[in-house]
Amino acid sequence: AQNAERQRILDTLRLSREQLLEVKNRMSEAMVRGLSRQTHEQSSVKMLPTYVRSTPDGTEHGDFLALDLGGSSFRVLLVQLRSGTKQTVDMHQKIYGIPQETMQSTGEELFNHIVDCIADFLDYMGMRGASLPLGFTFSFPCHQKKLDQGILLKWTKGFKASGCEGQDVIMLLKDAVRRRREFDLNFVAVVNDTVGTMMTCGYEDCKCEVGLIVGTGTNVCYMEEMRNIDLVEGDNGLMCVNMEWGAFGENGELDDFCTQYDRIVDESSNYPGKQRYEKMISGMYLGEIVRNILMDYTAKGLLFRGKLSERLKTRGIFETKFLSQIERDRLAMRQVRSILQHLGLTSSTCDDSFLVKEVCSVVARRAAQLCGAGLAAVVDKIRENRNLNQLSITVGVDGTLYKTHPHFSSIMQETLQDLAPQCQVTFHKSEDGSGKGAALITAVACRIQNEEQ
Ligand code: BG6
Ligand code: GLC
Repeated sequence: AQNAERQRILDTLRLSREQLLEVKNRMSEAMVRGLSRQTHEQSSVKMLPTYVRSTPDGTEHGDFLALDLGGSSFRVLLVQLRSGTKQTVDMHQKIYGIPQETMQSTGEELFNHIVDCIADFLDYMGMRGASLPLGFTFSFPCHQKKLDQGILLKWTKGFKASGCEGQDVIMLLKDAVRRRREFDLNFVAVVNDTVGTMMTCGYEDCKCEVGLIVGTGTNVCYMEEMRNIDLVEGDNGLMCVNMEWGAFGENGELDDFCTQYDRIVDESSNYPGKQRYEKMISGMYLGEIVRNILMDYTAKGLLFRGKLSERLKTRGIFETKFLSQIERDRLAMRQVRSILQHLGLTSSTCDDSFLVKEVCSVVARRAAQLCGAGLAAVVDKIRENRNLNQLSITVGVDGTLYKTHPHFSSIMQETLQDLAPQCQVTFHKSEDGSGKGAALITAVACRIQNEEQ
């Protein structure tokens, strides 16, 4: 009877093919609504123009600074692109921490901290005083009217610094540089991490026209026809659109598929009601879903002998890395148990370990399937845009969950193939982060600027 009860709970997290197809269809509709001028405001999926019009062509060159803010680490990079008979890229980077308090303090403090890190990096590289062009990977939804401007629409994930929403993040950075009165920087581009990733992968594979992130948050960008982008003048050629698909579900599109656990995770998050799709897929939230199911199991006497520990009641104890570790195939139950012990869940038995692993696997499978269903809408849209019966395309991917989870990518691809059978999709994992892509975009912008002068 206990097992039947557990399965009843897990069944609420299992999605049928029909349900996944419905997710794909609703995502397709949301994309069209986001692109159209009349319905853009109401759309959950914002489909933001990025002013990036082509993928790299290999002629990009020069030295660039890049900042990469919004994932699990903040990086400052020097990217040196050399073109010619053999293209080479040299990268030097330093990773800096951003304390939780700084993420949630004032914009001034956050941007001062960023400029402190840039100053440290320039010293470290012996480059103080060099005013190199800078590309800023800023992984949050921004309204752009040009490449070197990004008005933050809203914070997502763990960021909450006050006074930034509605402001141009390049101006916020420039102000912080000015306050410091030590050096000057030449800001050229603001780039979403999806776009940076697509460009990084596009440098090696010219069929890469989609960028996907499954990390702390989740999002996609892709090359859309200019004629379909109402928010930008002109009908010729392509432009990369940052979908901000994490917000899908804010208009109730996912209500049919949400469980009580999703609702609790949403309500206790930084932004209740927001980023509903992201909260069912990405690394910042999956562990919380698992923890809430485990608490419910325990309260019902189905786990940990019904004893609810203080640790299990602690928000955030189940980090993505544990989800990935617990599901490693050849991991013996003994090792799962040691992970649980590491989490302070010391009274677990071997059966408990098995049950925890099962919960992790159901939650991750649903995430991967939802992500695959969304991606099916994207690649089918690109195929239909081009009037093709078959489309062959590459998706550039980054993010800790995607890269470290043992089954996420295969389940996602299986779902994608099932729901978009007319598309042959290759996945290209980005090994270089999105900073390299931001430098490529900066290089193209500098070349165009120079040609115009
Ligand atoms: C990195 C990118 O490689 O992946 C970041 O350079 C991006 O810009 C990140 O945000 C996403 O992964 P995570 O897991 O760090 O959120
Ligand atoms: C969040 C951000 C989005 C970013 C994604 C992945 O969804 O809003 O801009 O691309 O996380 O980092």
